[in-house]
Amino acid sequence: MKYTITPTVEGEEVDFKNPSPEFFKAVGGEEGMRELMYSFYEIIYTSNINNFFPQDKEEFDKIKVKNTKFFVQLCGGPKVYEEETGGRDLDTYMIRVHDDFSIPEKARVEWLGCMREALKNYDMDEEIKADFWDYCDKFSKLTVNQFEDKREFNPYH
Ligand code: HEM
Repeated sequence: MKYTITPTVEGEEVDFKNPSPEFFKAVGGEEGMRELMYSFYEIIYTSNINNFFPQDKEEFDKIKVKNTKFFVQLCGGPKVYEEETGGRDLDTYMIRVHDDFSIPEKARVEWLGCMREALKNYDMDEEIKADFWDYCDKFSKLTVNQFEDKREFNPYH
């Protein structure tokens, strides 16, 4: 699988689709999603975007747990993240969470790289995995909110 990353373009509308429930099934339901997201967060913890996240392990683990709940709900599992959104739309809420951080394209690419590493360990139908990856590629564009540094080297290499 190619794990393609398409560039974020400032101001461009992002057309994304939530992952299919097939992914939730293939990853192994709630328990499987927990395993995937915990391994993803372990990779984040030692990545070069770890400075965005709480340095305290206990606080970091809280984010890891919430992130897992979000992905369970997003992928058609039980609505275990509902209480966090306070009745707001899930996508709007999630974009809002990231507004508290200054996220450039380079950090998004690193985040996607961590997700790719975690997904690589999963042997599942390529189309199902690609569908999940496509969500990550597209939705992550909406978390990018810092476009200033035009001198940035090409982050896709
Ligand atoms: C598909 C894209 C993404 C999704 C679905 C996503 C999802 C989430 C979720 C569910 C949380 C926990 C929110 C909570 O309940 O408090 C979170 C937190 C966070 N995410 Fe993302 N995320 C995405 C992309 C990114 C990217 C590209 C970055 C880049 C650095 C990032 C950085 C963070 C940070 C810093 C936090 C919060 C840590 C804190 O509250 O201290 N995320 N994300």
